[in-house]
Amino acid sequence: MINPDVRHTGDSGGVPLVLLHGFPFDHTIWAAQVAGLADVARVLTPDLPGFGGAAPLPGDPVQATIHAYAEAVLAWADSLGLATFALAGHSMSGYVALALAHLAPARLDGLILIASRAGADSAEAAAGRHKQAAAVGERGPVAVAEAMLPKLFAPHTPAGVRAAVETLILRQTVPGIQAALYAMASRPDARPWLTTIPTPTLTVAGSNDTLIPPSEAQAMRDGLRNAAYVEIAGAGHLPMLETPAALTTALRPFVAGLRPPILVPPGS
Ligand code: MLT
Repeated sequence: MINPDVRHTGDSGGVPLVLLHGFPFDHTIWAAQVAGLADVARVLTPDLPGFGGAAPLPGDPVQATIHAYAEAVLAWADSLGLATFALAGHSMSGYVALALAHLAPARLDGLILIASRAGADSAEAAAGRHKQAAAVGERGPVAVAEAMLPKLFAPHTPAGVRAAVETLILRQTVPGIQAALYAMASRPDARPWLTTIPTPTLTVAGSNDTLIPPSEAQAMRDGLRNAAYVEIAGAGHLPMLETPAALTTALRPFVAGLRPPILVPPGS
């Protein structure tokens, strides 16, 4: 289950905006957006199951699915009484957000897909994730840190940001990381779903993202029914940390334009 210790801010009457971190991070990546969007949204930053101290998905990590993470997010939203909300998913959580949009489109007021893609893993990529899950079992989170850190950043990203991200990865847990790797490896191709998703969507990419290049966000924009694309200059895979002000500026008009939920007084 997602950590019930919900971090949220900005009860401004704006739309609830759920920011979901990617792999293998936690809610702390969103600090700049929590501060920068609090006047236009009620910003919520849960941890995915297995990250940031949240309990992992129940069961064997090998059986974890992206669908199960989406259901966990819906159960968490239910527990808060969030009938509808806007959802921003970073990378792996873009996969989760697309699964949730497919599962329960009526729950979403808006969708933001950051540094993500709709396609499934190739057989080779899935095998690589299985190998990485085994390495994490043997060596701990350092195995995934060593594999990912060289690919995460734009060339000019400061050493301090790189070091903070390394620390963030190293404090995640083995079962959480393994479950996410197995879930990403087995995820279905979400491209056929795109034309069925009615939700207003913003797809976002860092111009220097080599892990998931901007062409993937552009392809999602093209496949979705109601989507726009924005590119963050000078960012790699982590625009929320590499170019935080630019990401907040890019999200702000989209978020501010989303309809706040209609509150029906009890008994009416
Ligand atoms: C992420 O940042 O969530 C991952 O890099 C996504 C992936 O490996 O496909």
